[in-house]
Order: sequence, then structure tokens, then C-alpha cells
Amino acid sequence: MKFFIDTANIDQIREVASWGIVDGVTTNPTLVAREGKAFEPTIKEICALLPDKPISAEVVSVDAEGIIREARELAQWAPNVVVKIPFIKEGMKALHVVAQEGIRVNCTLIFSAAAGLIAAKAGAAFISPFVGRLDDIGHDGMELVRQLVPIMDNYDFDTEIIVASVRTPAHVIEAAMLGADIATVPFDVLDKLFNHPMRDLGLANFLKDWEKYRAAQG
Ligand code: G3P
Repeated sequence: MKFFIDTANIDQIREVASWGIVDGVTTNPTLVAREGKAFEPTIKEICALLPDKPISAEVVSVDAEGIIREARELAQWAPNVVVKIPFIKEGMKALHVVAQEGIRVNCTLIFSAAAGLIAAKAGAAFISPFVGRLDDIGHDGMELVRQLVPIMDNYDFDTEIIVASVRTPAHVIEAAMLGADIATVPFDVLDKLFNHPMRDLGLANFLKDWEKYRAAQG
């Protein structure tokens, strides 16, 4: 499974890239706004930092014409830009047009299997089911991934599933067990994947024993 980082924070991207586990980046208007910097230079900087990885940048228009215009512009910013388009009818009209032009689209705000199926049929390179936000309203977010994986496989769609709105390490592991292509994970959750008290205890003991041994050796 590929790991994307779900952030527009350059320092976080740099740090995770140094761990050697980042396969791409997803942003959204909320994440870009959180950084308080201009949109275009932020996306260009991320694209330059990871030039061979897909970097999602989201449109904010809600009419097909506006989405198509924005998608064409975003795609000019860097060769590795993936345009994020929301799952709305106007979005699907636009997706279908820009996908035929060779623009890679990540269809976002996927909350049902039907939405994922439609977006894949319209030509999305990626679909983003939002698991955490489904959990928020008392649904089982991972159930949507459980439905989408066989649907994409049954028809050999050339569409990758990005498990999004990931909130916990358990979401990441379940995504991997279900065979999702990608999980896009916030920095704090990626960081938590490294934690284990037995690891900390084991390392502390190794170092303590090594110190004792060194002291005994003189
Ligand atoms: O990038 C979209 C998605 O991952 C947002 O997550 O935590 O705001 O629901 P969240």
C-alpha cells in the first residue's frame, strides 16, 4: 500500500519524505488555508519537493465550466499535479472532459460505493472515500473501502482507491488489510505508526546493557 501524506505543510512533507515512506501528497482547501500561504506557490513547492510523486490540488468551483478551467490551470503548475474534483454532477461532467485531455483526477468527497463507481466510470485516476467523516456520523467508514476494493477489481478499473479522512493507525492497518491502493494520512497519525512502548523499553534495555558492558571492559 502506498502512503500519501494529507497536508499542505512543507516541513511535515520534508520530514516524512526523509523517513522514505511517502508516495504522494494530498491537499484540500482547508489544509491549504491552515498554512496561511498563497495557494499556487505552495502547490508548486510541494510538487518540486517530490517531483516524481502525485500531488493533489483541489478546485473550488462547483460548476463544470469553472471546474474545467481550474483543472486545466492547476495541471499547468507542474507535471505531477493531480486535480482534486468533488463528487458532484458538475464535477463528473468536468472530470470526464479533463480526464480525456490526460489530466489525472482525484475524485474527492466519496461517501458511498455508488459515488466511487460513478467517479471511476467518469475516468478518475483516484477516488477518495472519507472514512473518518463517515465514522463521525456513526457509520463504519471502512465498510465503504470494503465495498470499493472488489468493485474496482471486478471491472479492472484503472482507478486507485485513496483511503482519506484517516484519523487513526487502525484506519491505516485496516486499509492495508482490505487491499486499498493508498492511504492518505495526516502527519500526526503517520508519527503514531512508529510508537510502541515495547520498542522503547527494548531499546532502553539494549543501551543500558551496552553501557554496563562497556564499563566492565574498561
Ligand atoms: O484530504 C481529505 C481528507 O483526508 C480530510 O480529512 O480529517 O478533514 O476528514 P478530515
